Amino acid sequence: MTLPAELDLVIFGATGDLAMRKLLPALYHLHGDGLLATGTRVTGVARERLEPSAYRALAQQQCETHLGKDYQGQRWQDFAPQLHYCTLDARDAATYAPLARSLEQRDRLERVFYLSTAPSLFADICRNLHEAGLITARSRVVVEKPLGHDLESSRQINDQIGRYFHESQIYRIDHYLGKEPVQNLLALRFGNMLFEPLWRRECVRDVQITVAEHLGVEARGDFYDKTGALRDMVQSHLLQLLCIVAMEPPASISADVVRDEKLKILRALRPIRGQDVMAKTVRGQYRAGAIEGQPVPGYLEEEAVPPDSRTETFVAIKAEIDNWRWAGVPFFLRTGKRMQEKLAEIVINFREPPLAMFEAPYGSAANRMVIRMQPEETVEMYLLAKQPGDVVQLRPVCLNLDLAETFRTRRLEAYERLLMDVMRGNLTLFVRRDEQEAAWAWVEPIMEGWRAAPERPRLYTAGTWGPAASNTLLSSSGLSWHEEL
Ligand code: BG6
Repeated sequence: MTLPAELDLVIFGATGDLAMRKLLPALYHLHGDGLLATGTRVTGVARERLEPSAYRALAQQQCETHLGKDYQGQRWQDFAPQLHYCTLDARDAATYAPLARSLEQRDRLERVFYLSTAPSLFADICRNLHEAGLITARSRVVVEKPLGHDLESSRQINDQIGRYFHESQIYRIDHYLGKEPVQNLLALRFGNMLFEPLWRRECVRDVQITVAEHLGVEARGDFYDKTGALRDMVQSHLLQLLCIVAMEPPASISADVVRDEKLKILRALRPIRGQDVMAKTVRGQYRAGAIEGQPVPGYLEEEAVPPDSRTETFVAIKAEIDNWRWAGVPFFLRTGKRMQEKLAEIVINFREPPLAMFEAPYGSAANRMVIRMQPEETVEMYLLAKQPGDVVQLRPVCLNLDLAETFRTRRLEAYERLLMDVMRGNLTLFVRRDEQEAAWAWVEPIMEGWRAAPERPRLYTAGTWGPAASNTLLSSSGLSWHEEL
């Protein structure tokens, strides 16, 4: 693996949740694994007036909490000297001077500006960086989702960033693309001959993509209530997963070639609008229930959630891709908070053989591929085999590729991998503007359909698989969700 060159990484929102929970722990690990060049400097910036030493102490305490058993005091001491801090008010140009002084000492280096703040600050930050003369040709900017709340607002944010950074300098993070199994899916699909001939409408009956969480909205009630599961998860993570499953083999793994293929899928998604919204989507909201035996409140009882909120915490969608490879194959997308299991998986259900020579042991797809991303990383292939004995009786058997067991090296967390790619200047796993806008263009009519509908989201009890209507979405075509098979 080529190491990134030494550079200056500036984290805006450095005292915030993402920085403390994900970015600094990721940098700590990268440093510990020898993947950060010695001269790389990480500068946190935020409004809080803190001395660099006080920031380091805060970061240490937070990382210790978030890293748990992975935290080692000595490793932290080795990493800490690379960590710096500047007080800065993102909206106030005058406060950029200390950051400018610090960066200018090393102006030959590459710079990465990581905007881990509310998107409403992105325009000011980019303009102020520009006015302070801090954006060089070798600078990059990293932005976190949600980029806007609909197509128009995402365009505005992209325009604002685009005034100061060229598209090739903009890294839009979707952390699902940094997950090891997602990249493994690319490797399985395009590094092997085995799957490609089967990966099409003639052989695949349906595809199911589920990201189910145990968590509720936690302390994010205010943000979540304005966002909902469709914007928070489907527009980004689930559609990106769908692209990776469905895209044509790219001619190479280079950024724009891969992103061109993903874009073609997003543009081939059949629009869901008008009456289709109610027929092909289900939105739900959790009510009080239990997660792993512990009682949990309903969504409407969560802090900062209005008691009459219609925000969805669950979505299921029957998506269709109008292209030659996938016409007629439903892609079922499902995500929810407070679900029965914490689980992220992609299930490819293959068609039945054309001739039923043997008595089938059960009515569902004999062949199934399950790519599980969470909680464990596995790839399972289900086949039918003859049960030993004097009669021919078939039984499902599972070929299980336990990747963690097969490769016993430490897995890079999504943010570690993505930070490495930003530092190396590799855009393959980042979302291009046209992809992001195509995703918004597809979800927008669904949001409009829901807004216009008189019904509230369907209630489901916390700790279940969501509203019953989500099962009907499949059973009306004679199918069922994976956990029912
Ligand atoms: C984030 C969403 O993008 O992804 C959260 O904003 C969600 O609501 C999270 O909990 C899920 O990510 P992961 O990696 O924990 O599955």
